[in-house]
Amino acid sequence: MPILATPHYFLTFAHLNNYYNSKYMSTRKRIKQILNSTEVDYDFTVKGWVRSFRNNTFIAVNDGSTNLNLQVVIDFTKYDDALLKRITTGAAISATGKIVASQGKGQSLELQADAIEIIGDCDAEKYPLQLKNKPSLDYLREIAHLRFRTNTFGSVFRLRNALAFGIHQFFQERDFVYLHSPIISASDAEGAGEMFRVTTLDVNNVPKTENGEADFSQDFFGRSANLTVSGQLEAELGAMALSDVYTFGPTFRAENSNTTRHLAEFWMIEPEIAFADITDDMNLAEDMLKYVIKYAMDKHPDDIDTLTQRLLDEEKQKPQAERSELNLKEKLEFVLNNNFERITYTDAIQILLDSPAYKKKKFQYDVQWGIDLQSEHERYLVEKHFKKPVIVINYPKDIKAFYMRQNDDGKTVAAMDILAPGIGEIIGGSQREERLDKLETRMKEMHIPTEEMFWYLDTRRFGACPHAGFGLGFERLVQFVTGMGNIRDVIPFPRTPLNCEF
Ligand code: 4AD
Ligand code: MG
Repeated sequence: MPILATPHYFLTFAHLNNYYNSKYMSTRKRIKQILNSTEVDYDFTVKGWVRSFRNNTFIAVNDGSTNLNLQVVIDFTKYDDALLKRITTGAAISATGKIVASQGKGQSLELQADAIEIIGDCDAEKYPLQLKNKPSLDYLREIAHLRFRTNTFGSVFRLRNALAFGIHQFFQERDFVYLHSPIISASDAEGAGEMFRVTTLDVNNVPKTENGEADFSQDFFGRSANLTVSGQLEAELGAMALSDVYTFGPTFRAENSNTTRHLAEFWMIEPEIAFADITDDMNLAEDMLKYVIKYAMDKHPDDIDTLTQRLLDEEKQKPQAERSELNLKEKLEFVLNNNFERITYTDAIQILLDSPAYKKKKFQYDVQWGIDLQSEHERYLVEKHFKKPVIVINYPKDIKAFYMRQNDDGKTVAAMDILAPGIGEIIGGSQREERLDKLETRMKEMHIPTEEMFWYLDTRRFGACPHAGFGLGFERLVQFVTGMGNIRDVIPFPRTPLNCEF
């Protein structure tokens, strides 16, 4: 019995109405809904992809709504061999029948099917995701177009989705305005010079000025332009009227860092709050992190369990001493139930200098006041010393961006970084320098063009007020919640040096 007996072009208007309201189209019930209910003895059509087919009888069907499969039971004597052979791992199928209480172990419900349709065949010889040999994460990265079909990546991307939604919900509940900062920008918000150029000039024949430099006045925007590294400066402009705003969009950095924590294209959330200082900023960041972690855990407890188990299996390969004390779920619960540690940069340096690791010369990079904390230092603080997230404030001004508010000591700025176990820096933020004279002087010292950035300075001329904000690296948050060690495994299609596949 074919599912859609009527070819599309024979559908009348009345048919169409039914067709669109039917379970076959957008209102199609998903496996998660079915398995979450105890209702039985009703007709149902499942559409999804075959995960396995056992004894010519049991088809495990997955539709991406959960890692749990719906067991479809068929009576193979009723089907031709030709059809049975096409029920292969990866094939898209539809099965219609009755949802009944399952006789077997491992599931409470199953579908007793009386009709099967192969919607899309999947050649078992060529399909790279056979259950037999568990593919490594490295291999799955090479076939990122198919990796959504594994339990690990199903869980990762459902949690990524929940975290994104949770972030919006957190800010919306607090009356923040979601502000869309531009993707193409002429300014370097971080002043770090790590930008991708955007141009329509012919790279093989770039027009030159009299000085022999590229003549961007002939370029699309009449000036040189880049992909944004941060929406912060625009968020500040919004906050000076709307009070509380946030951005949530892609940002781009041409840093040649081939690490497990850096992407060339990553998503960032940047709230900016008016009439606020660095303590308000820290409170907001801590509240937000706890809220969104809880949101994702409540929304997808099964996916947290899947990934907790994955990490336990992965850690079994490691020597006992290197394994985590808490499993993923315990670690997340611990974060929800404990205050983050708050320390100054100066105290952090002292802790590092007093540490056994420093005394035994275990750090690769030197420790002294004024250094930018290296990943090994951050990890020592969060994983060994405090064993919880740490907020470090008041960094030396010379290692931080021009816009951070200068402290009275003349040496430090009101910066705050949040360091998370296993990740290191997950959030970077600060109170902003709202005093025009101090900001202008600092920009000149750091060779930031003040005339070009008149618009930024205008907020300090017209009704300036203390304000603060931060940037949360979205993928680092997803790494933290999913326990994935490599940032390339928490974004669908990672962009990193020498890699722009898919
Ligand atoms: O510390 P960063 O550079 O701060 C800013 O961009 C500020 N404008 C934020 C603000 O105050 N509004 O970046 C913020 C966060 C980092 O803490 C990190 O989590 C993430 O963005 N991040 C990256 N994530 C992935 N790949 C990269 N290359 C990243 N660079 C920064
Ligand atoms: Mg930073």
